[in-house]
Amino acid sequence: MTTASRERTADRLLRSTATVSYDPELDIDWSAPLEEGKAFLLQHRCSLYGTALWDELSEPQRLELRKHEAASIAGFGIWLEFVLLRLLGKLAYHGDPASRHVQYALAEMAEECRHSTMFARMIERMGTPAYGPSGHVRKLGSLLPVVAYGPAMWGAVLLGEEITDRYQREMVSDESIQPLMRMVNRIHILEEARHIGFARAELTRSAAGLSRPERAYHRALLARIAFVVARSLINPDVYRSVGLDPRTARRAALENPYHQEAIRFGGEKIVAFLDDAGLVGGPGMHLWRKSFLAG
Ligand SMILES: [Fe+2]
Ligand SMILES: [Fe+2]
Repeated sequence: MTTASRERTADRLLRSTATVSYDPELDIDWSAPLEEGKAFLLQHRCSLYGTALWDELSEPQRLELRKHEAASIAGFGIWLEFVLLRLLGKLAYHGDPASRHVQYALAEMAEECRHSTMFARMIERMGTPAYGPSGHVRKLGSLLPVVAYGPAMWGAVLLGEEITDRYQREMVSDESIQPLMRMVNRIHILEEARHIGFARAELTRSAAGLSRPERAYHRALLARIAFVVARSLINPDVYRSVGLDPRTARRAALENPYHQEAIRFGGEKIVAFLDDAGLVGGPGMHLWRKSFLAG
């Protein structure tokens, strides 16, 4: 991608941002009551669905666990957006403010700030903890803007954005899901489409012409990131909400074919894209398989 075509992409995305964007503070009715019996997560995407532990839970407990898992995914999304803000800040810091490219990075940062606030308000409304990743993953995340650049950096961004996007698209028009969650998803899907377009174009540009050792570095880093993302979506503390031991329930979830399929479904599109860009392979393959993102 030449500088001119990079600028054209950024210009198109800036125009789209100016035409269609939301202010969740105003566009969501935060005072509307939650609907009795409606869920925050589809049943078959719950990590314990189909297990012996699931069979022992009552219907209200199942609904409660689905709510906590949705909060965990949203909390993880907020953390990913914090990491993304630092990555975009780095791009803007080193770039030319008079370029459309840097201006689009700034527009995306503004959107991500509104998204994080929107997810945070939703979690507040759900009355659950915000969860988020483990302390260890938080430390790794603070290193990411330092160690990751180019393909691994954009690949990390896309893994976070595209996996959550797939779950949101699946829920957005489902009547069994809470209207608040559906509206949050509608806003996020619409604005993320631009972010995904931007990150995919940046990844393709930066992955072209990588040397062999560089490609190996990006593949290894991305495999590690993919594993961390897949394992961090559901914080094991969610199981306490229905009186289950986090370690036992986590083990059951990892052995659960429905959960494995949920992860594979989430990563289906982005893994194919990364594979096409030559970024999936080498010694990191065992991590891709262990994550359930790639077979
Ligand atoms: Fe976002
Ligand atoms: Fe985004």
